[in-house]
Amino acid sequence: MVSAKTLLLAGLVAVASAAPAARASCGSTQTATPTLPVTGAATELPAPPANLTLKKIAVGHGIQNYSCPTADSSAPTQLGALAVLYDVTSLYPGTPKTGINETAWTALSTTILWSQPLPLNLVNEKAASPGTPSQPNVLPEASYGADTSDPFPRGTDLQLSPSMTLKFLGHHFFDISGTPTFDLSAASLKGSVVKTGAANAPAGADKGILNTGAVAWLQLSDSGKGLSSGISMVYRVITAGGAAQACSTSGAGQGSVPYTAFYWFYD
Ligand SMILES: *[C@@H]1O[C@H](CO)[C@@H](O)[C@H](O)[C@H]1NC(C)=O
Ligand SMILES: *[C@@H]1O[C@H](CO)[C@@H](O)[C@H](O)[C@H]1NC(C)=O
Ligand SMILES: *[C@@H]1O[C@H](CO)[C@@H](O)[C@H](O)[C@H]1NC(C)=O
Repeated sequence: MVSAKTLLLAGLVAVASAAPAARASCGSTQTATPTLPVTGAATELPAPPANLTLKKIAVGHGIQNYSCPTADSSAPTQLGALAVLYDVTSLYPGTPKTGINETAWTALSTTILWSQPLPLNLVNEKAASPGTPSQPNVLPEASYGADTSDPFPRGTDLQLSPSMTLKFLGHHFFDISGTPTFDLSAASLKGSVVKTGAANAPAGADKGILNTGAVAWLQLSDSGKGLSSGISMVYRVITAGGAAQACSTSGAGQGSVPYTAFYWFYD
């Protein structure tokens, strides 16, 4: 596994010069057959069933929410997550004309985490900037929260470099019953899911702005609540940041940790 720092540097280079990468793949006649990276994590995730079709690949950028009962050695519990989803399907390496190279592709989550402000209606605007890996914008966990009633700004595309625009795809949130939900409004797809597989992120994964570590890679399957439409399975892979601080560090109460991740959507 390449170290987070290497990926980050590769990613920043990719941002600075995405155009040559896209052009370089123009001559390629290879058709993209995206392969989900189920084996990069510390343990293997179950592969997607052969009868499922890949619908979209997104990078999500947002926060993971946690709560600590008390400021001691107790473990934080997850409350939810909020993220904006950007469509990266066409950037998959080998895609004619639009595919980027493998290094830049794999680095996308790290690149976005460190080069973009948090795309949420934050309670504290000072929490938007990631800072830099050598000088991260470290604030108390409670500072990264979004507006409870109106967490998302109007959906806008992400201009990652002068020549690379990531289309706004939708939102990730936990619904009123606490079920992880993906509303891919721009593609009229929806997934209401439960966790069916988890694998710790690799040791070299980007530990994020609070240096807490990367959240696990996951397999998520339809919740059976009849709320999904065109999505029956979701994988979260190549995560960056998002892991909770120890309760002894964050203190009691709610807190949020910035993260990015790839999401692969199947039906
Ligand atoms: C991948 O693309 C980036 C961005 O265009 C470029 O800087 C880098 O050299 C490329 N890497 C490889 C291995 O081709
Ligand atoms: C795929 O196969 C599984 C059984 O292996 C079945 O439960 C599921 O409904 C199938 N999905 C589709 C989309 O055909
Ligand atoms: C997450 O927690 C923050 C406080 O850190 C809060 O502003 C936000 O509304 C919460 N969102 C969810 C989905 O729990």
